[in-house]
Amino acid sequence: MADPKHHVVKPYLVTRRLHPENQETPIQFIENDRIQTSLFYRRNHFSYPNLTYSNYFLPINGMVNTPLLISLQSILQLPSKTVEVVLECSGNKRSLFEPKVFGEQWGKGAISQGVWKGVPLRTLLEISGIKEAAKEVVVEGYDFGKRTDLDKVFSYTRSLPLEKAIHPDTIIAYEYNKQPLSFKHGFPFRLIVPQWYGMASVKWIKQISVMASPFNGPFQKIDYMYYPNLENDDGAHPVTTINVNSTIQKPLDMAKINTGKHVIKGIAWSGKGNITHVEISTDNGHTWSKAQVSASKSSYKWVSWSYEWNAVEKGIFSILSKATDSSGQTQPIKPYRNRNGYGYNAIDNIKVMVE
Ligand code: MTE
Repeated sequence: MADPKHHVVKPYLVTRRLHPENQETPIQFIENDRIQTSLFYRRNHFSYPNLTYSNYFLPINGMVNTPLLISLQSILQLPSKTVEVVLECSGNKRSLFEPKVFGEQWGKGAISQGVWKGVPLRTLLEISGIKEAAKEVVVEGYDFGKRTDLDKVFSYTRSLPLEKAIHPDTIIAYEYNKQPLSFKHGFPFRLIVPQWYGMASVKWIKQISVMASPFNGPFQKIDYMYYPNLENDDGAHPVTTINVNSTIQKPLDMAKINTGKHVIKGIAWSGKGNITHVEISTDNGHTWSKAQVSASKSSYKWVSWSYEWNAVEKGIFSILSKATDSSGQTQPIKPYRNRNGYGYNAIDNIKVMVE
């Protein structure tokens, strides 16, 4: 039953760490597909940077024909692009690996989505021009700190291969859900890289450099790499595209529910195409039924799905959700185990007790 109006009941972020700030979206309690800023997950490697916006200029340099120092106002005047994009941290669901993997113990809420408006990175690179030899575009953030593994100070810096950098939907965003981008999410400008895990979407952009050779910074070549082996680096490859995935929002895991009809609902998403179908099992994977999936115009967003379950018998039930995308990928039974615990996308599961 709803509470009387004077008792406002609302969800909050789920805290994983405070310094740097890492908090997740209360994903089970999200009912729309444009998450308000206050409930958007926060993932930081360092303390928040100090910036003076009144004097903000963005340098674009390296393998360009004309190096630029472009003002905030000039960027805002360029033709804009709006994209509705899910941002998922590659560490989302890390806590679900068995055995556990060291690193931030994210539950299922290192994921959010909404509407981003900005200028295509491509537009800026068209103004500066890029040299023939250009291979990657390096984007540096204003935040920095010491990496104890390397005993050196680094800024949060990542590169994109040229083809992803000049994709018309890769933008330098300055608005989120029709509001100015909030400070914690990268004000005044952040990268939004649709279909890639969130690490690519660099916040608080300080500088853009076009390079002829691969960028080797630690957030590129040490972190955000899949290491299939515990003992050595054989087979290491970079984390890029979001894996097909789904999350059950309702009922809650380990809930006690009554017999009768229940709507099982959740979200499904993929960086490799549209979600074509979501299957639900209420008997731990013995039988599967198709869920109803909401239509989506954008393949960069999650879709919502629902399934009506008539819980006739009493007992303990494992409910599973399994999404498939248009590239033919389906969530696996077991996650791809890797040393740092990135890209978890095993079939989602919860348990309920029907009583
Ligand atoms: N950009 C900067 N400058 N510093 C960061 O620590 N974290 C990255 C990315 N961009 C990060 C960054 C990671 S790992 C993720 S998942 C997203 O930002 C999180 O964005 P959010 O905090 O807006 O949710």
